[in-house]
Amino acid sequence: MMPNELFFPTIQTSRLILKPLVIGDADKLLAIFSDAEVMKYWSTPPWDSIQDAIDFINNSHQSMTRQNSIALGIYIQSTGELVGKCMLFSYFKTSKRAEIGFGLGRAYWGKGYISEAGEALIQYGFNSLGLRRVEAEIDPDNQASSRALEKLGFSQEGLLRQRWEINGIVSDSALYGRLVSDPLPHYQEIDAVKV
Ligand SMILES: CC(C)(COP(=O)(O)OP(=O)(O)OC[C@H]1O[C@@H](n2cnc3c(N)ncnc32)[C@H](O)[C@@H]1OP(=O)(O)O)[C@@H](O)C(=O)NCCC(=O)NCCS
Repeated sequence: MMPNELFFPTIQTSRLILKPLVIGDADKLLAIFSDAEVMKYWSTPPWDSIQDAIDFINNSHQSMTRQNSIALGIYIQSTGELVGKCMLFSYFKTSKRAEIGFGLGRAYWGKGYISEAGEALIQYGFNSLGLRRVEAEIDPDNQASSRALEKLGFSQEGLLRQRWEINGIVSDSALYGRLVSDPLPHYQEIDAVKV
């Protein structure tokens, strides 16, 4: 087993803090993930009760304790406000790979938060978990997400047709990958520090 603290990190970037969610975050988390716009391309329907948020927080802690994933809230450093979440999941230790996912409340889109939080989480995955590969699966129609991944140095590696059906709507999946040996996104300021 790796040390458990590795799966419960606090990561600081220039504007943000990424750290494990607490039950007190449930109201704000529900407000963000009950928004149909935020969940438009998600693989699950929008949340509709506080229990969904509490279950997410509890399930992520259990998964982190089992060393299967790292799920972190994204907070604005200056105000402490919760703006979204990001995670590394489907962690395969032997193959040194994990999948990344992120979501922000609508009011926080387009401010470069995912460029900042995503890079910090990816670097944490490479440096602290020893990952060789981070992958992402998105709806190819999700332009904000594909642009965010390209900015984060991911390449599209595949397109899986009609992979999902959610609420009767069939959609494709685009698969993206970034290797530790890939060149760093050149504009990316590497300022993440673990505290
Ligand atoms: C996808 C998401 C996390 C992007 O986060 P973000 O903080 O807004 O992204 P950034 O501000 O770091 O922007 C990254 C790039 O994407 C571009 N972008 C952001 N929103 C966009 C949109 N709606 N359409 C096209 N490009 C967009 C930005 O302009 C930027 O590129 P640029 O620097 O060349 O201009 C956010 O839109 C979101 O939470 N969406 C809902 C949840 C979701 O779909 N998550 C992905 C599923 S894994």
